[in-house]
Amino acid sequence: MAKFDFSKRDSFGSKIGVIAAAAGSAIGLGNIWKFPYITGENGGGAFLLVYLACIALIGLPIMLAEFSLGRKANRNVFGAFKKLAPNTGWYWSGVLFNTAAFTIMSYYAVVAGWIFAYIPRSISGALSGQNFNEAFSNLNSSTVEPLIWSFVVLGLTIFFIHSGIKKGIEKYTKILMPILLVLMIILMIRSVTLPGAMEGIDFLFAPNFSALTPGGVLEALGHAFFSLSLGMGVMMTYGSYIQKQENLQTTSLQVVIADTAIALMAGVIIFPAVFAYDLEPSSGPGLIFITLPGVFNAMQGGIIFQTLFFILIGIAALTSTMSLVEVVASSVTEQLGISRNKGILMIAGLMALLIIPNSLSYGAMSDVTLFGHTVFGVFDFLASNIFLPVGGLMIALFLGWFYKLKNIRSEITNEGKYRFRLAGVYNYLIKYIAPVAIVIILLYATGILSKLGWV
Ligand code: TRP
Repeated sequence: MAKFDFSKRDSFGSKIGVIAAAAGSAIGLGNIWKFPYITGENGGGAFLLVYLACIALIGLPIMLAEFSLGRKANRNVFGAFKKLAPNTGWYWSGVLFNTAAFTIMSYYAVVAGWIFAYIPRSISGALSGQNFNEAFSNLNSSTVEPLIWSFVVLGLTIFFIHSGIKKGIEKYTKILMPILLVLMIILMIRSVTLPGAMEGIDFLFAPNFSALTPGGVLEALGHAFFSLSLGMGVMMTYGSYIQKQENLQTTSLQVVIADTAIALMAGVIIFPAVFAYDLEPSSGPGLIFITLPGVFNAMQGGIIFQTLFFILIGIAALTSTMSLVEVVASSVTEQLGISRNKGILMIAGLMALLIIPNSLSYGAMSDVTLFGHTVFGVFDFLASNIFLPVGGLMIALFLGWFYKLKNIRSEITNEGKYRFRLAGVYNYLIKYIAPVAIVIILLYATGILSKLGWV
């Protein structure tokens, strides 16, 4: 088999490109679809505080770990562990990371597909006057239309990344992310100027601790991982394309701040609007597909804002799917030595097959269940509750206990050029706090904690 020529490895060309790509990965359906509804279900402000603590104490350290390990190795996830820990079992983490990428992509593309399906519906005004609940279930329970949209998502993703890093991921995220930001600002201004908007702002920012359950705390931690794209080698892979002169400490901080800011902005778009029209903030996954169209329907110029809103989430989703596919694309091309185009086509074929049962989970295959979950439910559960926490745990343990901070320090400080003031705290977080917190999420998510009667 042909060998990959590592001297020709692609990289990001600019600092802004690194931020666009990494923040583009982090900012996605997690921020705009999921964050508002889980915040709504968990009572608003108190949940937000816990989420922020998880981001700062666990998310940020793991992000820096992934970036620095990736850049030091300058390889895909398999190659990285092989290079940093030769002749050890760590190499096999690559299997977990790649499996997670396939799993997440298979259902993420389905939700992204629904978003895309809502763009023409918004433009034509087809939703107005319909029962929004019915309109949504008519879409996700049918066979052909949602599948086509998921394939559109997959196709666009492949198109954006096939030319590589500089000419692919960097080029397109640099165009798409500013558009996303502008659309968010427009919608935010619209939302907070609605009569009665303050109630929504209060809901989001005023902490109501009585609504916060232990389950909510763990959900915050799990979501911090998902939202920052951690535990799957995305940031390791992107880190491997970051040039040596960039400061990884500031890069991690900027990506984390961007991701958190966008989640907050999504909350500031959604809650004031929901309260202004007297709707329920805790309506779950249907919040943006069912509740929000109701808001837009009642709003002057609603069609325009609704169209912008779904375009905005579509963009956010695409810059995330690029990162999911890139983890596999780099693994396949570098480990197997096949061309990028060929590798990506193979991956896309397999992903397309996996998307089918996920898409049909709400319709033709809704009766096909495992432990009471549809295929979609199983994939989502495995990814969010098992693969990502285990992946994050492995990264924390690898850096904290196996590789050791002293060996990555020069990567983090660019050979001593930048100070690493918080090294002591960092070591403590990565060795103890992150692993313990992750093990607790795992026990919770697998139902072990509730069997023990602890939550
Ligand atoms: N972070 C993205 C979001 O919030 C989703 C995502 C992309 C992701 N790549 C990932 C999640 C890798 C976990 C791991 O929507």
